[in-house]
Amino acid sequence: MKEKLRIVGGERLEGEVMVSGGKNAAVAIIPAALLADSPSVIENVPDIDDVHVLIEIMRYLGAEVEFKDNVLTVDPRQVDKFDPPYELASRMRASYYLAPVLLGNFMRAEVPLPGGCDLGLRPIDQTLKGMRALGANVDIKGGVLAASAEELTGADIFLEMPSVGATVNSMLMGVSASGMTTIHNAAKEPHIVDLANFLSSMGASVKGAGTDAIRIRGGRHLHGANYTVVPDQIETGTLMIAAAATGGDVVITGAIPTHMEALSAKLLEMGVHVTSEDDRIRVRSNQIFRAVNVKTQGYPGFPTDLQQPLTALLTVANGTSIVTETIFESRFKFLDELRKMGANTRVIETTAIITGVEGLAGARVNATDLRAGAALVIAALMADGVTEISGVSHLMRGYERIDEKLRGLGADIHLVRED
Ligand code: EPU
Repeated sequence: MKEKLRIVGGERLEGEVMVSGGKNAAVAIIPAALLADSPSVIENVPDIDDVHVLIEIMRYLGAEVEFKDNVLTVDPRQVDKFDPPYELASRMRASYYLAPVLLGNFMRAEVPLPGGCDLGLRPIDQTLKGMRALGANVDIKGGVLAASAEELTGADIFLEMPSVGATVNSMLMGVSASGMTTIHNAAKEPHIVDLANFLSSMGASVKGAGTDAIRIRGGRHLHGANYTVVPDQIETGTLMIAAAATGGDVVITGAIPTHMEALSAKLLEMGVHVTSEDDRIRVRSNQIFRAVNVKTQGYPGFPTDLQQPLTALLTVANGTSIVTETIFESRFKFLDELRKMGANTRVIETTAIITGVEGLAGARVNATDLRAGAALVIAALMADGVTEISGVSHLMRGYERIDEKLRGLGADIHLVRED
């Protein structure tokens, strides 16, 4: 059944909300569980469509997987296939994390090229480079990444940019390669550190995650582990921005405030009150925002995944904001939708110029990707009147029960049938 979100704007968000486990951490950790020779129990796994697709793929490969109450159990002992099916693999980005895992297990992998949000070009050349550096023969044929090897040997991998995907894939290969692998210019995102911690709890030697050089002593025997996924940095940020947008007073619990420093600094600059204590972040605003300039960067810089939600807020800030997107060229497409709600925006190449307006008005809009969906929800929460958002499946791929969580804070938001 196709659904859309119906939001009546203008309700102030108030109360407490618990953040879910990290999507981008979970989708890296779950495939890694196949590297073990015994079951893993992974807690705080978000109940989102991307995870369900990954579970289906893992079952196809032969793994026994159970998922209940955010706890995922993976028994990899019966895995006997190395070729995830196209219909599943093409539905998400992280499916290609299975390539280094299956290659490590079988010295062979045939994984369809990944899908995920359409954010413009999303090349995987750095992943291929890493695989080749460790001794794999890699080819792309008929939309499939086909890799094979006689043996995998540790090596230095120099990434041309701190790519999250290439860092994950190089780590997942490095643990299966004999000797030392060093990933230079590695991504430093919280989900990279979380994957490293999970691999370490399986018995791997992974050092330096969170810095730009990750060193892996590979070839160790890996066993299943009990592990809890890190809270979702981007969901936390989305909820913080939503609270600010509605002039609300919201405490986000189960969060890691240090992961949020780039966003918190921007919100403070805009005039929003942000305080934190332990795993709680409190956001209060009087709905008067100063315009700011934002430039997306890898962690610890301002995350591209929060650019769209923050840009939605900037459409009602006093003055003109300049938003520069350095990671994904097509991450301004959602501005066409925000314009339908009255936003005043102009895009010149990788820069958006946002001139604040008095207020937004509800409209029928379409979410073209996951974070575009989040941005439209934020716009709708502060808009006058009713907004209907189609393309909700994008949102459900990455946010657990977002409608329910916002409703719990006082928002008038409901999933309704598209027809
Ligand atoms: N790039 C290359 N070659 C490569 C890899 C990347 O040129 O081989 C470029 C990309 O085109 C992009 C930049 O490097 O310009 C960074 O891309 P990266 O590889 O870091 O992105 P990704 O791994 O495809 C992950 C997240 C994205 C998030 C980005 C950036 C997952 C499953 N996806 O994507 O998450 O935007 O890192 O932080 O972890 C989302 O959650 O909405 C989302 C899109």
